[in-house]
Amino acid sequence: MTRTFRTAAVIGAGTIGLSWTALFAAHGLTVRVSDPRPDLEEALAKALAANAPDLAAQGLDTDGIADRVHVAADITEAVRDADIVQENGPERVEFKKQLFAQLVRETPAHALLLSSSSAIPSTAFTTDIEDAGRILIGHPFNPPHLLPLVEIVPGERTTDESVQKAVDFYTSVGRAPVVERREIPGFVGNRLQNALNRQAVYLVQQGVITPEDLDTVVTHSLGIRYATVGPFLSGHLGGGPGGYRHITDHIGRSMAQMELGEPSQDPEDQERVIQAVEKAYASRPYTELVHTRDREQLAVLAALDNTRRNKRNDDTHRGQTNKEN
Ligand SMILES: NC(=O)c1ccc[n+]([C@@H]2O[C@H](COP(=O)([O-])OP(=O)(O)OC[C@H]3O[C@@H](n4cnc5c(N)ncnc54)[C@H](O)[C@@H]3O)[C@@H](O)[C@H]2O)c1
Repeated sequence: MTRTFRTAAVIGAGTIGLSWTALFAAHGLTVRVSDPRPDLEEALAKALAANAPDLAAQGLDTDGIADRVHVAADITEAVRDADIVQENGPERVEFKKQLFAQLVRETPAHALLLSSSSAIPSTAFTTDIEDAGRILIGHPFNPPHLLPLVEIVPGERTTDESVQKAVDFYTSVGRAPVVERREIPGFVGNRLQNALNRQAVYLVQQGVITPEDLDTVVTHSLGIRYATVGPFLSGHLGGGPGGYRHITDHIGRSMAQMELGEPSQDPEDQERVIQAVEKAYASRPYTELVHTRDREQLAVLAALDNTRRNKRNDDTHRGQTNKEN
């Protein structure tokens, strides 16, 4: 590791910022949080209490996490002694432009400046900043204290040293960073998600399926598969012994010819989808749905961890037995 990360500044404490705060504090960092929301203190207290069981389930010691989290009077105070800054404000280029110009001026020179931006590449908001070498995207999946992936996306002027530091940082807080090689709006995860979501809306609009049944199709097939193998390994296995080459030649051709269609953007058509989703889910409280999702996601992560640990132990044992023979 190039440096130990001791102090984090979290700018913007909505859905994503609150979750990052809990994760960073559970990993022993001092966290200074800045957000103009009037209920910041209360929101932090609630989020830390609500997320503590998830963090404990990941083997983290949550005793005293609240003592490591501090409400800052403003951004200047939040970032003064930061080793890393994680920005989670509004998804607007103008906001990020102004904020990162301020961060470059007011943070210690070694601080890594990371944006959670879901779709805006950092080059889009750093063109006017002279020293953009330590600014880059660290895009999590919601909620970041639970889902391991962080997409690290360097801007055109981000230094290699900053990319490595970002990998070290996210690894140090138990995440699984993946460095992407070129900026593209939405990065990789959200482009994949967007393609699936567009098709989901199209299928509901066409009357093929209800939102609830479509969710069941995903959770009972693709969701489980994709927690274990991605589309390429899945295709390689789907091709049987002939592998990815065979499936490309065999099923790939007819898949490529399928007309996928685009969902209607007409406000009335969109409203019909919104109402169908609300009919399916709005009667259950938001907190209950979030709680269920998080419990189930944790269960999947724990099961995978366990299976992979057992396989590593078996492999080690087999290696030792082979040597002894
Ligand atoms: N919600 C998701 O699923 C998700 C996932 C990954 C990344 N992101 C990205 O994370 C960022 C935050 O998204 P979110 O869903 O948490 O949004 P959110 O609306 O829940 O939170 C945004 C927060 O920013 C605060 N804010 C506004 N102006 C500010 C300022 N000047 N200084 C500090 N804070 C300010 C708001 O008060 C609010 O609490 C966005 O860039 C988004 O694209 C969101």
